[in-house]
Amino acid sequence: PRRIILDCDPGHDDAVAIMLALGSSAVELLGVTTVGGNQTVDKITRNAQSVLEVCRRQDVPVHRGSARPLLREVHVAGDIHGESGLDGVELPAPTVPVAAQRAVEFIVETVMAAEPGEITLVGTGPLTNLALAARLEPAIVERVREVVIMGGGYHEGNMTPVAEFNIWADPEAAAIVVDAGWELTMVGLDLTHQALATAEVEQEISALGTDLAEFFLGLMGFFRRAYQENQGFDDPPVHDPCTIAYLIDPDVVRTRRAPLRVETRGDLTRGMTVADLRPGTDAEDCRTQIATELDAPGFWRLVVDAVRVLG
Ligand code: BDR
Ligand code: CA
Repeated sequence: PRRIILDCDPGHDDAVAIMLALGSSAVELLGVTTVGGNQTVDKITRNAQSVLEVCRRQDVPVHRGSARPLLREVHVAGDIHGESGLDGVELPAPTVPVAAQRAVEFIVETVMAAEPGEITLVGTGPLTNLALAARLEPAIVERVREVVIMGGGYHEGNMTPVAEFNIWADPEAAAIVVDAGWELTMVGLDLTHQALATAEVEQEISALGTDLAEFFLGLMGFFRRAYQENQGFDDPPVHDPCTIAYLIDPDVVRTRRAPLRVETRGDLTRGMTVADLRPGTDAEDCRTQIATELDAPGFWRLVVDAVRVLG
């Protein structure tokens, strides 16, 4: 299996990313690292623990990460994820403490202790921890297999007309991560807006009849209303698990190689991800790629299977 560290800010869709990673034999989740984003890092860390409880996978360690962006102020997404960061469900109290080691050290130590090309880093929140890890131990850049992030978009924004929340929240960190030189796939809004939790998807989950299925439906109920009221969607886009789906089955997420940069300075364009899509830019040796097209039925099959497998 692909050995991964998931750096996240659960968050409704981050929670689904955790479930998908745990429920697929193609992925081995070595640890969850947390970052302030959708809510404060305290709430986010507890949420990560609670999701692992619900999945009965308390053996997966949770490492607490950055409380705030490198330079910017904290800006939580309470309108989309609620006061807790996971509104809509009961969150069981953690039975296992948070790991003593902090997120950035866990990332560095895990990557350096593994074989070169073994560990994949997945980021589904602001990229503060991954940026700090690359600065703390630059050797990880050569050593990881690849980095897959949910963030940005080449034609779409949600926080502003041109910027997506995770990148907008910590654009300097995102610039460090995107410029680092490792193999990087950006799963942006262009892709994740195709991952809609429709009524049919909810019916399939509901038919599983498990506690975890109920938990999933509770999350989606709140998420749907939030997206209807704040973003003009009928069905909520479930962004973050698209990164995991790409690792499980690359055929589910079509990609295109393209040079990628992050705007940190523009008055109107803070946090915009700029992909160079001009003809001829998709050279094989380009280290960055963008996700373009989702096989939505294939994606939801993976998610439903994972929820089933977790029981
Ligand atoms: C991203 O922002 C967060 O609210 C979600 O969890 C996702 O990672 C979508 O813009
Ligand atoms: Ca997230």
